[in-house]
Amino acid sequence: MQFQRVSFFFVAFVAFILCALAAPVPADDDSLEKRITHSGRGTWYDTGLGACGKWNNSWEMVVAISHLRWNGGGNCGQYMQINWGGKSQYAKVVDECMGCADGDLDMSASLFSHFASQSKGVLNGVSWHFMAKGWHP
Ligand SMILES: *[C@@H]1O[C@H](CO)[C@@H](O)[C@H](O)[C@H]1NC(C)=O
Repeated sequence: MQFQRVSFFFVAFVAFILCALAAPVPADDDSLEKRITHSGRGTWYDTGLGACGKWNNSWEMVVAISHLRWNGGGNCGQYMQINWGGKSQYAKVVDECMGCADGDLDMSASLFSHFASQSKGVLNGVSWHFMAKGWHP
């Protein structure tokens, strides 16, 4: 009896693991993308008319992403969480950065200032990930 009970729990445990492994992966690209943490350099730029077609000001928490992450404008309006130096901030994608490497971010002045003085110019080792589509702070 004792052995049977153990084997029952073992079978249940294995079944549980298989179910967890077989859980459907969301097909939505954005929900996959948001789990990926990107990293690169952070710089700042003078906001204006962004490639997403909207005007934004330097005091808004907005960001330009690399042309390699631009996705044909598909990431316009998407929020991300940015981490650097133990600080964190949400920002919205409003522009495309042609000079940026894959994980680099070009930030509005106020966004950059949230992390460091503008005179620092470049933040190395900025990490960020997209929030779920439609999420906003
Ligand atoms: C940026 O500009 C757009 C269009 O004017 C506006 O809707 C948005 O609230 C602005 N700020 C942010 C943080 O998106």
